[in-house]
Amino acid sequence: MGANFITGTGTDIGKTWLACALLRHWRQQGMRPAAIKPVLSGFDPAAGGASDAGRLLVALGRPANLAEIDAIAPWRFAAPLSPDLAAAREGRRIVFDDLLAFTRQAVTGAPLLIEGVGGVMVPLDEQHTVRDWIAASGLPCVLVAGTYLGSLSHTLTALEALARVGAGVTAIAINETPDSPVALAATVESLSRHVAGVPVVAIARGHPDAGIARLAELLC
Ligand SMILES: Nc1ncnc2c1ncn2[C@@H]1O[C@H](COP(=O)(O)OP(=O)(O)OP(=O)(O)O)[C@@H](O)[C@H]1O
Ligand SMILES: [Mg+2]
Repeated sequence: MGANFITGTGTDIGKTWLACALLRHWRQQGMRPAAIKPVLSGFDPAAGGASDAGRLLVALGRPANLAEIDAIAPWRFAAPLSPDLAAAREGRRIVFDDLLAFTRQAVTGAPLLIEGVGGVMVPLDEQHTVRDWIAASGLPCVLVAGTYLGSLSHTLTALEALARVGAGVTAIAINETPDSPVALAATVESLSRHVAGVPVVAIARGHPDAGIARLAELLC
């Protein structure tokens, strides 16, 4: 069991939700997973528990106080924008090498999930995007996608972008989009034909346990 990034085809696709479900699953099995969310935009200190970092801490059974949030999410910005723009609003910038060093020091051999930020091509600074962060870390990722109309193209585009920088993909998690006109099974079937053997895991809305268990196994 090692470390995996949780990235996605875009924002709001279910990265934190999925990470929390995996963390709870492993803890129920007696494991002691860890999680970090190094870069967090749209952070409101008055509602830290509701932030991605707060949700991950709750799933880990840790208090969602500011000290704990600081430990897993050091790059926090107030504006709900891409990290480069959110940082600029505060006259700050993310130093890519520092982000990489923080990510590497979190890897201990225990199960670790690293939630990225937004989708795979979100800018972190003037030169780097999330995919560069994943590739430079040398760690594989789980790509979270949906079933909304358009998600097949978004998912295959994200895969191409990751492949171009040599980032490994452990699995694609299809997190069923509510009220989607495309069935979950049809999305999985279509995508599977185009992803050269990367496992595609269906996460069914309302009854996700089997999908979470399969994904947890793939990450072991
Ligand atoms: N399978 C699911 N079942 C129920 N709720 C879900 C599921 N997936 C996502 N959600 C909900 O959808 C919303 C968006 O999900 P989430 O916050 O995990 O997205 P994200 O990709 O982490 O977004 P961000 O880019 O802001 O980090 C949240 O309210 C989350 O609880
Ligand atoms: Mg999130």
